[in-house]
Amino acid sequence: MIVVAGGTGTLGTRLVPRLAESGHAVRVLTRDPGRAAHLAGAGVEVTRGDVRDPADVAAAVDGAATVVSAVHGFAGPGGVSPATVDEAGNANLIAAAARAGAAFVLVSVVGAGATHPIGLFRAKHAAEEMLRASGLDWTIVRATAFVETWASITGREVQASGRTLVFGRGDNPINFVSAIDVAALVALAATDSGLRGQVLELGGPGHLTFNEFAALLQDAAGRRGAVRHIPRPALRAMALAAAAIRPALARQVRAALVMDTLDMTFDPAATRGALPALPSTDVPSALKELLA
Ligand SMILES: NC(=O)c1ccc[n+]([C@@H]2O[C@H](COP(=O)([O-])OP(=O)(O)OC[C@H]3O[C@@H](n4cnc5c(N)ncnc54)[C@H](OP(=O)(O)O)[C@@H]3O)[C@@H](O)[C@H]2O)c1
Repeated sequence: MIVVAGGTGTLGTRLVPRLAESGHAVRVLTRDPGRAAHLAGAGVEVTRGDVRDPADVAAAVDGAATVVSAVHGFAGPGGVSPATVDEAGNANLIAAAARAGAAFVLVSVVGAGATHPIGLFRAKHAAEEMLRASGLDWTIVRATAFVETWASITGREVQASGRTLVFGRGDNPINFVSAIDVAALVALAATDSGLRGQVLELGGPGHLTFNEFAALLQDAAGRRGAVRHIPRPALRAMALAAAAIRPALARQVRAALVMDTLDMTFDPAATRGALPALPSTDVPSALKELLA
């Protein structure tokens, strides 16, 4: 049994069917089974639970051979945060996996580190450290920014009007990877015990600025509209104003500022060279699939 926390998300939705279709029994842990309705099918069982609740996690992980953590608390419903989900929630998952004698696959981010300016990246680093110290058989999969996630954030209106959003100047090169490719790697990590004790970092085939990303998004939607830039000073003001009342929005805005300024490039050659059968989905193809 492979237990997937985060099975309902952008990555999980592509991972769970892949595991089930290759004959693995999968249990999806979600706070709302309604969000897992599209995953129902042979070999997939859904259980309700919150990774912030140790009892929920213990029940969900019972009998697991492998646990995959594809959760994050960066944004999303339920008052989540990186501290409560990526750190405390992953601590609960790791403890439950240890009791079950299960292997553990942690989905993390390229750049995870103790001093990274984005809090999520620091929380992922803390989870990675907990996992390494746990004594479990583990694999860490780090990915760059998902095409599908950023298309949803910046292109909410693209199909209706062609309008897209760019945070800041949008001229910083960023490595984007498709969640299709990351799902293939996580599925491999979950099922190939030869990948234990490894940190596998995955990125996409090239780099794009957010301005270029917006143009590809409009191409994929077949619509040209205004590209609205939110200038950096406005982002800084938004982050300050939202900090107390909408912390998740403040986190997203601060992260957008970092993505507009920090080196976000990445060379995926190591993992792609070691695992040449992984799909290499380019950004236009990922956008086309997403908008279809
Ligand atoms: N998106 C990116 O650009 C990106 C880049 C690199 C790495 N990653 C990593 O890839 C993984 C998947 O990200 P994603 O973008 O696919 O996520 P997503 O679409 O935003 O979905 C978030 C998932 O986390 C689950 N979750 C959040 N809080 C939870 C809680 N308290 N208890 C149980 N489940 C909870 C949600 O489940 P329910 O709502 O069903 O409970 C949902 O399945 C994460 O580890 C993320 O950090 C993402």
